[in-house]
Amino acid sequence: MEFYLKALLKTNTDPAPARDAVAAILADAEKTILTKGAPEGEGAKIRSWELDEKAIIVEITSGRYVRAHDAVMRIKKPLAEKLGKDYRIGIRGIEAEKFTIRIEADHDLKNKNIPYVRSVDYADGMLTLDLEMGEAEMRNQVPDRILNLLEDKLKQGDYGAKAEHWNLLWESEDREFKYGEDPTEEMLKRGWLRRAAGRGQWVHGPQTTKLFRTFEQIVVDEIIRPLGINEMIFPKMVMWDVWKHSGHAKGVYPEIYYVCAPKTRDPDYWEDVIDYYKVTHEVPTALIKDKITEPIGGMCYAQCPPSWTYFEGRTIATESLPIKIFDRSGTSHRYESGGIHGIERVDEFHRMEIVWMGTPDQVVEFADKLHERYMHIFNEILDLKWRKAWVTPWFMAQEGLVGLSAEQRVGTTDYEAPLPYRGPDGEWLEFQNLSINGDKYPNGFNVKSQSGEPLWSGCSGVGLERWTATFLSQYGLDMENWPEEFRKRFGEMPETIRFL
Ligand code: SER
Ligand code: ZN
Repeated sequence: MEFYLKALLKTNTDPAPARDAVAAILADAEKTILTKGAPEGEGAKIRSWELDEKAIIVEITSGRYVRAHDAVMRIKKPLAEKLGKDYRIGIRGIEAEKFTIRIEADHDLKNKNIPYVRSVDYADGMLTLDLEMGEAEMRNQVPDRILNLLEDKLKQGDYGAKAEHWNLLWESEDREFKYGEDPTEEMLKRGWLRRAAGRGQWVHGPQTTKLFRTFEQIVVDEIIRPLGINEMIFPKMVMWDVWKHSGHAKGVYPEIYYVCAPKTRDPDYWEDVIDYYKVTHEVPTALIKDKITEPIGGMCYAQCPPSWTYFEGRTIATESLPIKIFDRSGTSHRYESGGIHGIERVDEFHRMEIVWMGTPDQVVEFADKLHERYMHIFNEILDLKWRKAWVTPWFMAQEGLVGLSAEQRVGTTDYEAPLPYRGPDGEWLEFQNLSINGDKYPNGFNVKSQSGEPLWSGCSGVGLERWTATFLSQYGLDMENWPEEFRKRFGEMPETIRFL
């Protein structure tokens, strides 16, 4: 890995009179300021230097330590001091005449359209990026971010795009299933729900709605109330600012539904759209596109991130910890790929999400309690076949990252269940998750604890479509086959709406 920088330190007058002073400072720099903080022999090197009438021109190379752009800033200081004091020569600024990063790689980059990168070349196992850098960019560590980006991309190539982690933690006993149909097909036949106008979207009839509400009530009775969790309402349009702090801005783009606002509310501005519709009965979407803003954000995707705006920049009193809250105020949306199927993979879904925060001990302790309550629900009330697995943390997957976190308890546990209609070797459905997110969110949103102890958080999403798909796949739609404990809580089946 090598940084190469040919920099012009621009002077306000001909620097020739100061030639000897420049020579002395640069000779000294390699032994002092350009090696400071680097392992032996790994500092930045000055390859050559020369003067013209308006600049000191330096060629610098470096590896990972004291990177070339840092090196030039380090040189500028003593040069400016000496030349100013002894020769009345001012240094005005730094310009990068040439700036390249070279890094070993076993493949070329797919996307060469990277900000500040003029060109990307791949030859003989080396990638060479030619950067367009001003002084401000060099000071703001843009070259370092470009290197991080490269390293991320190369690492991802190594793992393969979706080499996510999976480790079995617990599995319920095997059993025979009496039902083997696809419940969505069956629900459609019975009129429990219908496909909505949108992609991966359903209108839930009284029956599936009652199932959702019963599951929700079970969560309230068995988890929310006993564990003292307070309800809050989290926003459902999520602005970029939230996703910058949560990390989603790093990768969520292919999966979100975007939100735009009208450029103005003025009815006159919209008159041509309205008239067009009235005359043609077609909505002029191309015309609308010009009259709305660029996306201001997206629709709720992960549910918990926008809750953090409430805590952002604040210090939480010790007496308020651990904080335990939940939201069930609206839908979540994901642009699903081709795999939309039944109610288990949808673009609009319903989820309760529990969020908690506290000291690391408090967060782990609460996670354990939650795990125990879920175990009770799935074993004693819903009587499911299911398992728990340790997987790539959800936020890493959503940011497009892979691998495992170093901290032992930080990460995501997926709850998965087999869908008998998919056969004995069918993929298991993730019907909910529970994560300890470590200090990621408190850090991202700058939230602290009064005691100064590290603040951690966790979250757990209960997917109502997923619970329904799991439960009905294993038990079918006929209530008499449902576990007694669940039937009691469900009550009467709503009457079917009949059509002619
Ligand atoms: N926020 C978590 C996720 O998006 C839990 O719902 O997976
Ligand atoms: Zn969450």
